This record gives sequence, C-alpha cells and structure tokens, in this order.
Amino acid sequence: MASNEPTDIVPADDHGTTFTDPGTAVERADAFQNPGLPPHQLRVTDKDPKAAKRAERVIVLLFYVSVIGSVFAMAAYFAFPIKPNDLGSVRLNNVFIGLGLAFALLAIGIAAIHWSKALMDDHEGIDIRHPVAGPPPVQARAVEIFRQADRESGFNRRVLIRNGMIAAIAALPFPAIFLFRDLAPAAGTPAEAYSHTLWKQGTRLTKDPTGDPILASDVTIGSVFHVIPDGLLKSDDMLEEKGKAAVLLMRLEPGDLHVSPDRKTWNYDGIVAYSKICTHVGCPVALYEQQTHHLLCPCHQSQFDITREAAVIFGPAVRPLPQLPITVDSEGYLVAQSDFHEPVGPSFWERRGDYNV
Ligand code: FES
Repeated sequence: MASNEPTDIVPADDHGTTFTDPGTAVERADAFQNPGLPPHQLRVTDKDPKAAKRAERVIVLLFYVSVIGSVFAMAAYFAFPIKPNDLGSVRLNNVFIGLGLAFALLAIGIAAIHWSKALMDDHEGIDIRHPVAGPPPVQARAVEIFRQADRESGFNRRVLIRNGMIAAIAALPFPAIFLFRDLAPAAGTPAEAYSHTLWKQGTRLTKDPTGDPILASDVTIGSVFHVIPDGLLKSDDMLEEKGKAAVLLMRLEPGDLHVSPDRKTWNYDGIVAYSKICTHVGCPVALYEQQTHHLLCPCHQSQFDITREAAVIFGPAVRPLPQLPITVDSEGYLVAQSDFHEPVGPSFWERRGDYNV
C-alpha cells in the first residue's frame, strides 16, 4: 500500500524530469529560470512635480467628462423621445443615450487607470498568503495596509480627484432611472394594460400583416392564419397593441373540438381563435402541427392542445392560451364577439383579482 508520508525526490534524468520513490508522482524541473524583475524606473511624475500636477488635472478633467456624459445621456432621453410607430426615433434615442453612457464609463475607466499609473505610489510588493481569518496582529496589519494604500494613492490628500471621482460615480446611475421608467406601462397598472386589447364586439379578424378581412369560407380545415384586429394598423401604439392582440386562427373538424359548456358559442363551425402570446413569458406561439392540432411555442417548447381549449400538454407554461370568442357578421367575415375574457401573456398578471373590470 502506498504511504502518505512525503517521499524523497531522486535526481533528474537527462530530460530534466525528477522521480519520487516509491509512487508515481513526477515533478518536472522548471524549463526557464525566473528572470526576476527589471530595475525600478522612476516615472516622469515621480521626478517632476509639474508633471504630477498636470496628470492630476487630466484625471480631474476626465472625471468631470464622465459627469457630462451622464448628464448628456439624461438630456438625450428627453431630447430624442421615442415616438409610437417610429423606429427612427428609437434608433436616435438609443444612439444618443448610449453615447452619453459610453463616454461616462470610458472617462471613469481612463481616469482611474491614469491615476494609478501616473500618481499612485509605484513599487513592487510581495503579498504572502495567510489563513483567511488572521489573528489580531494580522488584522491590525491589514488596517495599516489600508492606511498605507490611502496614503500612497492620495485618496484623502488629493481632494479634487477624490471628489471628481465621487461625483462621476454618483452621477452614473441616474440615467438608469429614466431607462427603467420606460419599462412600466405609460398609464395604469400592468394588470390593467394586459387585461384589455383592441378586440371588442364586432371587430373584424384581419390577416397579419396586410389587414385584409377574413371570410369564414376562406378558412379551410387544417389551415392557420396569423390575425390582427381590424384598425390595428392605424393605431397610435401599433406595436404595443399588436403585442397584446395578435391571434392565431385555425379550423378543425367541429367534432374534434372538446369545449366546455360556457364556450360552446366561442367557435364558428370549427374555426377557433387563440391568443398568439405564450402564457409562459410571452413569445409568439407560431408553430401549428396540423395532424395533432398542437401549437408549439419555439422559445421553451410549451405545447398547447387546440382540441381541448389550448390546454398545456408540455413545457413550462402553466395556463392555456386565452381564447377569443368569434362569430361571423352579415357579410360572412369573421368578427370577435368580445375582448379576451382573461389577460393575455405571461401568467404573472393572472395573480391579481381585479382585472377584466
Ligand atoms: S415563452 Fe413560450 S414556452 Fe416560454
């Protein structure tokens, strides 16, 4: 049995390999000698106080450039607002906010590097490894090291630099307030926003993206249509409204549908309409398997069975796709009977009890 005791190392062979005896461990000799460190060179700022002063001014300037970048990003938020249905305005808004933040971050980075390279004390030190929890003398030494770092970096001595850095770092998070604010709905609560869509009684179902109305007689068994409500293309918030109102339309043999009594009238001769927005995290459910009548969400593979009111049969979604009740108008075009009877999209909103008011 091999011993755990340290073993002697026998001399290296011709290739510089040494062997332990007994056992299988192999220790290779260093291929190169440690060249050591080159002699220390004083920097310009070490020798010339004027150069040090110049470097200090540059660092302060860079920190205030960062402040300007942050203010610019905030100003750009208002100067280049995002307008509904105007992708050009989105581009301008993103470009100028991004430029402001890029300058703000870049200036802080350059200032910090310049500060450390040009002004902070320049010497090589060796840190010996110690156990994590050091005894009191070691802790006292750690405090001393912090103080030494403070002295050497001049953090407390160079008040202008320190204040500039604090101002730059303090200003940097403010643009985020404006950006995160845009994640909230423009008006009302998220539950209200997702409880109502453009669908209402009599709204025609139209093809996406042309906006042509759909005759019930054009929907053959096994076909699927991507549908938007009539009038959506003229809506002020076209993209937001489409994100809630998009629908998939399919026709099955009426006998294949298993519907609950309160939904008996929600389909028209086997034509059914379901929200296209996945109830998991909101991807478009766009893949229809005609033979099995399953809808598949490509994001995380949730599957919904259209023959059973879009019940979840696989995947992370936890509730069926909301169904849009439909019928036909006097000209034979498919129309909605009402809005959805529950919020569309991810199930989070379902946790509230005061929607559909
Ligand atoms: S968003 Fe559809 S499965 Fe995740």
